[in-house]
Amino acid sequence: MPTIHFVSLTPNGERTVQDVTARTGCTLMEAAVDAGVRGIAADCGGLATCATCHVIVTEPWAAKLPPAGGDEQGMLDFTAWPRQAGSRLSCQITLTDDLDGMTVDLPPKQY
Ligand code: FES
Repeated sequence: MPTIHFVSLTPNGERTVQDVTARTGCTLMEAAVDAGVRGIAADCGGLATCATCHVIVTEPWAAKLPPAGGDEQGMLDFTAWPRQAGSRLSCQITLTDDLDGMTVDLPPKQY
C-alpha cells in the first residue's frame, strides 16, 4: 500500500501536500480520484485520450517508472499546462510498493 504525496500550489504560491495511501496495483489516477485529490480531472476514465490527469513526477521517482508508451507520449503533447521533464499521465502509472513515498506535482491547470 504505497503512500503518494500530491503537491499543489495555491494561487498565492503556498505549497500544499495531500498524502494518499493507495491500493497496490491501481493507477495513480485512480488513487487520486478515489481520494478526492483536486486537480486530477481524468475525463476519459483512464483511456489515455484526454490528458486531464497530467502530473509531474519528481526525481528520483520519475526514473523509477517504466517509460511512457506511444499513446501516452502522444497525449502529453496536448496537456493544458506545458509538458515538463517528469510529465506523465497518471492513468498510465500502475502503483507498486516500490513507489511508496513518491511525490508528484499537480499542474496549475488541466483544461
Ligand atoms: Fe484521460 Fe488519463 S484519464 S488521459
